Amino acid sequence: MSTPQLLFKNRRPGETVFLKGYRATGGYQGLEQAFRDLTPEEIRQRVNDSNLRGRGGAGFPTGVKWGFFPHDKPGPKYLVCNCDEMEPGTYKDGELLAADPHQLVEGMIISAYALQTDVGYIFIRYAYEQQAENLRRAIAEATEAGYLGKNILGSGFDFELHVHGSAGRYILGEETALLNGLEGKRPNPRLKPPFPAVKGLFGRPTTVNNVETLANIQHIITGGADWFRDLALTIDGSGTKLYGLSGHLNRTECHELPVGTPLRQIVEEYGGGVWQGRKFKACLPGGASTPYLTAAHLDVALDFDSLEAVGSRFGTAGVTVFDDRTCMVAATLNLIRFFERESCGWCTPCRDGLTMVAWLLQMLEAGQATPEHHGMLRDQLANISGTSFCALAEGAMGPLAGLLEHFEQEIADHIKKGCCPFQ
Ligand SMILES: Cc1cc2nc3c(=O)[nH]c(=O)nc-3n(C[C@H](O)[C@H](O)[C@H](O)COP(=O)(O)O)c2cc1C
Ligand code: SF4
Repeated sequence: MSTPQLLFKNRRPGETVFLKGYRATGGYQGLEQAFRDLTPEEIRQRVNDSNLRGRGGAGFPTGVKWGFFPHDKPGPKYLVCNCDEMEPGTYKDGELLAADPHQLVEGMIISAYALQTDVGYIFIRYAYEQQAENLRRAIAEATEAGYLGKNILGSGFDFELHVHGSAGRYILGEETALLNGLEGKRPNPRLKPPFPAVKGLFGRPTTVNNVETLANIQHIITGGADWFRDLALTIDGSGTKLYGLSGHLNRTECHELPVGTPLRQIVEEYGGGVWQGRKFKACLPGGASTPYLTAAHLDVALDFDSLEAVGSRFGTAGVTVFDDRTCMVAATLNLIRFFERESCGWCTPCRDGLTMVAWLLQMLEAGQATPEHHGMLRDQLANISGTSFCALAEGAMGPLAGLLEHFEQEIADHIKKGCCPFQ
């Protein structure tokens, strides 16, 4: 049975759907239904019942997050969409906005109504110029159609929406660094608490949600919470997910599939198998900050709980596959160098710890490491995990934890042979 396409239903190669095409396939019916038949409280309840979990990486339940929001407090209050998307291996939001920008615009208007926020910002990756352009056109069309602006569909509710370009660093995706960036400040993460729901953009209540999270809202309205939950293949999941495939596969594309799709099906059916007739060695299941899975995990369902049970994370469902000729030390060094470069430098475990980890991995790769260096790598994992100011360094420890968990022998071989065994 093929997966119902909610977010990708209008996706055609090289094409973008705007208002006319979007409406032709049911676009804005969720918004009309929400404004006509539901109170903001009923919308929040439906989202809560749907068990939608944030698609930005952490998987926090959206209904619970919205439950903390002081919707009845006087404005201004803000809804911010996070489209920074700079994590290696994650490109799903860019794909969605390239094809169908109204999906996000409609989701944001309903969310704003549910939370009673007055102003929305879409904070978008600097490189997504076409997607930003698509959004500006979609916002203009939605305003013209009476879906945005003053007194939306005669409801008395006002909401304005703006597109704001990111300055282009990975840390800007962290929600409080993003808020500093939106305010024109240096994007260091903020101390939490206070959480953005209490003190967010310009010191006012703010909710930050991911593109894919917000684009699901109108489908939960039209289909209902039970229908949405049942789309997932596993009992703890709900909805569909955009799985962005990359790495050593025959086909590297983004697919909308049920939450809980097994890794083997993703690799073999959707990725066309490992390239050049080679074998599957490992993958990052949810972006660069998630611990590796190995061939022993091919039958694991890709969802939040199943992946946590095997020591990894669903993250953004950006699945990056490595073939059996890959040196996992080199792969991890490459990832750590990214996180080291993108560290904002504010706290010691991240600023100095990632530099140390990169140096140790470089020593291994160059064949100059000793068993003592191997031990130091373990020490660094323990030192950095749980001690950094924001989740960037914690995320960077994902691949390192996977390397130490699953590829001890490969590390030992680098030391014993005095060189990289894959060169
Ligand atoms: C370093 C770092 C980068 C992040 N980048 C993104 C991003 O590009 N997009 C995103 O939605 N969330 C990103 N997040 C997670 C956000 O802080 C936040 O949890 C998310 O936007 C909340 O949305 P959700 O609840 O809808 O998932 C990042 C977190 C960290 C620590
Ligand atoms: S963990 Fe610390 S240094 Fe690293 S990005 Fe976050 S705040 Fe900055």
